[in-house]
Amino acid sequence: MEVIEAVNDLRKIIKEYKKQGETIGFVPTMGFLHNGHLSLMNRAKQETSIVVASIFVNPTQFGPNEDFESYPRDMERDKRLCEENGVDILFIPTVEEMYPDGYSTFVEVAGDLTRQLCGRTRPGHFRGVTTIVAKLFHMTTPDSAYFGKKDAQQVIVIEKMVRDLNMDITIVPCPIIREADGLAMSSRNAYLSPEDRKNARILSRSLFDAIAKIQEGERDPVMTKRLLTEKINSVNQAQIDYVEVVNGKTLQSIPRIEGDVLIALAVKFGKTRLIDNVDVSV
Ligand code: PAF
Repeated sequence: MEVIEAVNDLRKIIKEYKKQGETIGFVPTMGFLHNGHLSLMNRAKQETSIVVASIFVNPTQFGPNEDFESYPRDMERDKRLCEENGVDILFIPTVEEMYPDGYSTFVEVAGDLTRQLCGRTRPGHFRGVTTIVAKLFHMTTPDSAYFGKKDAQQVIVIEKMVRDLNMDITIVPCPIIREADGLAMSSRNAYLSPEDRKNARILSRSLFDAIAKIQEGERDPVMTKRLLTEKINSVNQAQIDYVEVVNGKTLQSIPRIEGDVLIALAVKFGKTRLIDNVDVSV
């Protein structure tokens, strides 16, 4: 595995591989890798000949009072995991490399897609995500890029950016990877106290209960939201940011549960904000 810090070096090596007819699969991450990330690398390895992963904690997607400084980092462990999971090139730029002094260009998917759900409590977050992902796409010129569906809204926003900017890249959304008790894997799970970690099981449990009710015939999004909200609120320490039942493509609210539906939530346990979702096709 080659570990690269400079954009120019990355471009050179990728150009060489492309000349030889290799296909590039790209897995962008912010590090502190878990099995969710590793599943993306493994999928990329199956579908493309050269896997490029990046580790970059991107300051522009964090709000002023968010966890940029404290975001968990462990580069030595991450390098080892990348190597063990088939990554050929690991790109680990510095903040100065990605945002040199005077940097002033941003990529923004405007409108409801970025204003709903996480966009409501994290204004500017998706602008930071699309800016860094667009930059990384230009640098790695991948054939395919792999994203976890835990960040369902992020996937939808990136797909829209790729369509709107005519980027010749296939976005591959990959399944959520869960702990044995159902908690969706996330680097931020590392923040949870043992008690909050136990309480956080309510997220997947309430989502799975909602799916069961829909399978039994429930079609009312308001009732489904109520069921989820009551379940989550039964855990005293849980502070709901949002619980939404929306169209799985447009993220707009829906009058009835039918077609592609996304049930998504964000809940805080202490200072840790967790997100989770399920997609339902009725
Ligand atoms: O999902 C993430 O880890 C980040 O939002 C991403 C896509 C790597 C951009 O910084």
